[in-house]
Amino acid sequence: MEKRTYITIMLAVLTIAAIFLNTAVFDDSDNPDLDPKQFYNIAHRGASGDTPELTMAAFDRAVEKGADYIEVDLQMTKDGVIVLMHDETVNRTTDGTGLVSELTLAEIKQLDAGSWFNEAFPEKAQPEYIGLEVPTLREVIEEYSDELRLYIEIKEPNAFPDLEEKLVFLLNDTGLIGEDVPPGNVLIQSFGAQSLYNIYLLQPDIPLIQLISYSDIPSITGDAMDSINEYAVGIGLSYTQITRSFMKEALSRDLLVHPYTVNKPEHMETLIEWGATGIITNYPGVLQEVIERNKEELIGYN
Ligand code: G3P
Ligand code: CA
Repeated sequence: MEKRTYITIMLAVLTIAAIFLNTAVFDDSDNPDLDPKQFYNIAHRGASGDTPELTMAAFDRAVEKGADYIEVDLQMTKDGVIVLMHDETVNRTTDGTGLVSELTLAEIKQLDAGSWFNEAFPEKAQPEYIGLEVPTLREVIEEYSDELRLYIEIKEPNAFPDLEEKLVFLLNDTGLIGEDVPPGNVLIQSFGAQSLYNIYLLQPDIPLIQLISYSDIPSITGDAMDSINEYAVGIGLSYTQITRSFMKEALSRDLLVHPYTVNKPEHMETLIEWGATGIITNYPGVLQEVIERNKEELIGYN
């Protein structure tokens, strides 16, 4: 590795460690315990391989295919409503154009969030996808909280200064988190340590997943994992970058390891053999079949 690359990586890790450790605000007893042996089927943007991502159709399919969690990305409208959309603009996944942050909820609700999928994937097209709406996070919680758990990503950089506050308010307001609710109803992930820190300050009992970018993975060895373990219950990273020894190191600390975005059965099987505690996939049905075939490897799966 080039010296400059190494220094950049180390600086990133030290920044994360400094935020979490030097400020000394994390109390490990706040770190909620999830069963590290439990394996989770996590539907990336819903069942987004077969249906228009982040729509009710994608979440219906995820339920039908046996997902445990739906992974969702958040944006905020001009009038401050949290909606589900991966990109900052509506251009790719609707028939509109522009930044989500410059459109009101009423304007966003006029958009068609399904037809693009029929055009892009004619072999998977369905008439019922035409005219699907962009859902708000509240709508999705109200519709699916009995059937699915939420795996929420806060984008890095987070363009919305009050997003974390609004998110935690909404999760409390809808009863998704709180004293009488089991941990793990909601997981929050981010590449940004600052966003995770903000969530911790607002609601320390929400389990956090630290996403690790491609370039940082080589620097996440023992000490860095110990630092992450102070505040997060697990790590998310691209399956293309993970190694068996990385997995072993993380699992030995009881960190959850959730590789993304894994769509081929052979890759799922390898990750399960290495001990992954969950997989993020566009095809929860394919993962469910792999799970059925590998149940003996998945201690705690039920
Ligand atoms: O779970 C992590 C993964 O969702 C990050 O990638 O771009 O699909 O949000 P992206
Ligand atoms: Ca995401």
